[in-house]
Amino acid sequence: STGTRYEAENATISQGAVESNHAGYSGTGFVNGDNVTGSYTEWTINAPAAGTATIALRYANGTTTARPAAVTVNGGAAQNRDYPGTGAWTTWVSDTFTVPLNAGANTLRVTATTDGGNPNLDYVDV
Ligand code: GCU
Ligand code: CA
Repeated sequence: STGTRYEAENATISQGAVESNHAGYSGTGFVNGDNVTGSYTEWTINAPAAGTATIALRYANGTTTARPAAVTVNGGAAQNRDYPGTGAWTTWVSDTFTVPLNAGANTLRVTATTDGGNPNLDYVDV
């Protein structure tokens, strides 16, 4: 681990907004993506060397319906993650998975695959 936290409020947002009305987030807010298929948040992640990295994505889903997302790195193959309900919009949990990173800058994109959109997104730890 590089021990680096990348806040969602500093990421690139397509169809969504930074908000702060649900407590418990890190930094200054979280991303509320629009509830549509295809809305995404994209982080730029720097890796000191190429290799497999563990990502912890912190999210909240205050509904009882999963908010599945496709995770892609540098536009590559999608990895689908489920993002079930967390019980409340103020209950934040981390989803951990691995991705291949290049040395230097990488894009990590989390795209909603259903009309529910993404869960609210707080940060990624790399
Ligand atoms: C509510 C909630 C938002 C959330 C949205 C949703 O409006 O306040 O933070 O993003 O529901 O269903 O996606
Ligand atoms: Ca939303």
